[in-house]
Amino acid sequence: MSFEEKTSRSLGELLAEGGSVEGLYSELRACFDLEKSNASSGEQLKQLRDRWLGRKNGLLSAANDHWLKAAPRELKPQVGRLQNESKRYLESALADAKTQLATAQQTQQHIDITLPGPPREIGACHPVRLVNEEVWSIFRGLGYSIAEGPEIETFYNNFEALNFPEDHPAVDEMDTIFIEDRTVLRTHTSPNQIRIMKDREPPLRYLVPGKVYRHDTPDSTHTPMFHQIEGFAVGENITFTDLKGTLDYFSKQFFGPDTKTRFRPSFFPFTEPSAEVDVSCPFCSGKGCRTCKDTGYIEVLGCGMIDPEVFRHVGYDPERYSGFAFGFGIDRFAMLKYHIDDIQLLFQGDVRFLRQFR
Ligand code: PHE
Repeated sequence: MSFEEKTSRSLGELLAEGGSVEGLYSELRACFDLEKSNASSGEQLKQLRDRWLGRKNGLLSAANDHWLKAAPRELKPQVGRLQNESKRYLESALADAKTQLATAQQTQQHIDITLPGPPREIGACHPVRLVNEEVWSIFRGLGYSIAEGPEIETFYNNFEALNFPEDHPAVDEMDTIFIEDRTVLRTHTSPNQIRIMKDREPPLRYLVPGKVYRHDTPDSTHTPMFHQIEGFAVGENITFTDLKGTLDYFSKQFFGPDTKTRFRPSFFPFTEPSAEVDVSCPFCSGKGCRTCKDTGYIEVLGCGMIDPEVFRHVGYDPERYSGFAFGFGIDRFAMLKYHIDDIQLLFQGDVRFLRQFR
């Protein structure tokens, strides 16, 4: 039975069929609610109002005529009360629906979806990242490729293939962190020389950045994890002069055009000859200051000609090929470049510090 039909019949008839007054009015409200939930425009709300609350033909006035007016005396107070309550209910529900619709339309009008959204704060580049990118770009200009290797490394790649003799104190000196018996956290990026040379044939020019690990006690210049970049070139007729030219060019690009370089003899098991490179102090231009401890120079990297023994480990003919390698700490470069006096600042993640490097 549709609701129109119900409201057109007399209360007595409906009750005789087993309904109750309460039941009829709650059915009326439920029926209205359902129709209201389907009304989504002002026009539809108006139709709803006319249909239910219209003075002449509205369903509620039909109920008024056929139910209330026709009600037996003893039921009149109850029917009258429910009739009034239902009217108020419908009126206030319609008013609410109207307000809701108006608000929805208003918000729709005020959101211009073609406007860019509120700006999101984006992070700053970490100084280690900045130095990395600058170094990469300088060496890319020299024809180097960038590669990466694993942080968990074999003892063989980290030491033996790099010509560290058995029982070499470097294993202790480098404060190696062991994962297993023959597996370590790499103590330097040099094992990537082995990985890449084993994989490829000369000529090679590679740059390998990465994290390295040493069991150091943290202080203003030490952390158990820090960053290095390894660089190396292998080919025919590569000489120490090429190494010097490359690093001198690099230093001038990175620290400034007036930078002077100085090569001091040194020792690494995997290079022969080996050298340590100093650059004229970027802070005092070599005049002497606290940073360079009044020497005018700062040590920045280790390098040398790749030892023939290393070539043998990777199956290269040392008679045919020669090459150079160098390695340095990126954190230290970042500290020099940005005048940071405590390496810990690079690892604490304090945004007040980091946001300066935007
Ligand atoms: N691997 C050396 C270190 O960590 C640096 C180095 C690299 C020296 C390449 C020579 C050649 O101290």
